[in-house]
Amino acid sequence: MWALCIWASLFLISITHWVYRWRNPKCRGNLPPGSMGLPLLGETLQFFRPNTSSDIPSFIKERTKKYGPVFKTSLVGRPVIVSTEPELSYFVFQQEGRCFQSWYPETFTEIFGRQNVGSLHGFMYKYLKNMVLTLFGHEGLKKMLPEIEQIACRKLDLWSSQDSAELKDETASMIFDLTAKKLISHDPGNSSENLRENFVAFIKGLISFPFDIPGTAYHKCLKGRERAMRMLKNMLQERRGNPRKNPSDFFDYVIEELQKEGTILTEEIALDLMFVLLFASFETTSLALTLSIKFLTDYPSVLKRLTEEHEAILREREDPDSELTWKEYRSMTYTFQFINETARLANIVPAIFRKALRDIQFKGYTIPGGWTVMVCPPAVHLNPDRYEYPLVFNPSRWEASESNNASKNFMAFGGGMRFCVGTDFTKLQMAVFLHCLVTKYRWREISGGNIIRTPGLQFPNGYRVKLTKRGNSERYT
Ligand code: HEM
Ligand SMILES: *[C@@H]1O[C@H](CO)[C@@H](O)[C@H](O)[C@H]1NC(C)=O
Ligand SMILES: *[C@@H]1O[C@H](CO)[C@@H](O)[C@H](O)[C@H]1NC(C)=O
Ligand SMILES: *[C@@H]1O[C@H](CO)[C@@H](O)[C@H](O)[C@H]1NC(C)=O
Ligand SMILES: *[C@@H]1O[C@H](CO)[C@@H](O)[C@H](O)[C@H]1NC(C)=O
Repeated sequence: MWALCIWASLFLISITHWVYRWRNPKCRGNLPPGSMGLPLLGETLQFFRPNTSSDIPSFIKERTKKYGPVFKTSLVGRPVIVSTEPELSYFVFQQEGRCFQSWYPETFTEIFGRQNVGSLHGFMYKYLKNMVLTLFGHEGLKKMLPEIEQIACRKLDLWSSQDSAELKDETASMIFDLTAKKLISHDPGNSSENLRENFVAFIKGLISFPFDIPGTAYHKCLKGRERAMRMLKNMLQERRGNPRKNPSDFFDYVIEELQKEGTILTEEIALDLMFVLLFASFETTSLALTLSIKFLTDYPSVLKRLTEEHEAILREREDPDSELTWKEYRSMTYTFQFINETARLANIVPAIFRKALRDIQFKGYTIPGGWTVMVCPPAVHLNPDRYEYPLVFNPSRWEASESNNASKNFMAFGGGMRFCVGTDFTKLQMAVFLHCLVTKYRWREISGGNIIRTPGLQFPNGYRVKLTKRGNSERYT
């Protein structure tokens, strides 16, 4: 009996001690305020709670009110310092590889592959980035412009002939096909298996509880990745069997590189990278594009101004039916403001994660080495001190962006060394699509268009519109 009592009290004491340690982590210095939540679970559930608002997530809002702009918490089993401060976020981006390193939750590395760009460091990383930039850098995009225009016009023409079009899925499929064509010359009409379907299965289970048993979303997600990877692998091997004379896509580039002596690239790394690029490109851009069309519907004065800019481009031309040129693309001043404003309010990437490599002092607080730092772009993009009336969609606020500390107050595409390599590609695709849309079509809403954030942006009911061709005399001007 006594022994049992002693055991029970020892057990209680160690549990209490453990819970105490959980709630009060050790730190040589002064941890920011905040709560570590429940043991193990932390505040994970609160973080993922869905909300239909475009405002700063209530998880962040409540805690900044209570604790200030920098606070501690625990998410998916990791101690986390949340930064809503532009200064700290900027510092974190600038110190990449020195004080901080890119880090994503273990479930992410499991599903994205261990070799993906997000978790590669140093030399290998720079090398992969250069490979990506040959395709999506300035010169590559210049070459791609006519093709992007053709595809956008063809798709819009097709949709306008239908009763209605669901923009979220349709733009995703358009962008996926284009990216797959550029990266691996994939032609969906040619293969029996649908590569995109596997990606859709993959994405659906991406933010789900990591239980790998048949029937769960997570299981389907892993299976989707597996099948997509197998397809990519077959394609790569087929191509290695009969290489082409003029390298033109990413596969050619990879194959050339793999044949070099002493190369550090492996087939596995190349395939993981391909997967990440396909994934990163189509979901993000289609969300931004769909939301931007929603904004155009809700803000007629913005639609009017955007249309004027694009009609002016047509007017300046000798032949209004000629192709869009790079020079014309560069002249779309208002369109770029429109895209920035869309990205600011979309907050497609609601959190960017880093790992602290050692103890770091910031404004009297200590960020312990090994902890995760979560930079929170929505908290900056929707802060009324940085953007007046932050929830109003107003592209013109970007007119003065040069003097506005834009690099510190705008992080929709990340910052520092790991700034999104797809930024220019996304902007080009959006601008060209919008050009075709506003000069040739009108549309009206049929259904959907409502959003939900978990905290990632989603259109739970899609966004269905009816597109009609505009007559030549229908001008806003
Ligand atoms: C609206 C569209 C997009 C948004 C909002 C977006 C956002 C971001 C953000 C915030 C990061 C930084 C992540 C970090 O620091 O950990 C990032 C990185 C990245 N993005 Fe994008 N992105 C978009 C489109 C694209 C496209 C079209 C591609 C593909 C060509 C792409 C490829 C990448 C890659 C490869 C990285 C990793 C770069 C690195 O780690 O250095 N993104 N993106
Ligand atoms: C959604 O977010 C808004 C703004 O942060 C907040 O006021 C509201 O209470 C949240 N709703 C729910 C159900 O959490
Ligand atoms: C399929 O692949 C062949 C050869 O790679 C190509 O000539 C053809 O245009 C492709 N597309 C279709 C739809 O068959
Ligand atoms: C869009 O935002 C970026 C900040 O990342 C800024 O450099 C650029 O000038 C902005 N574009 C416009 C048209 O304001
Ligand atoms: C830019 O940032 C600096 C320091 O962070 C601040 O003093 C200055 O007022 C800012 N400028 C504008 C135009 O917001």
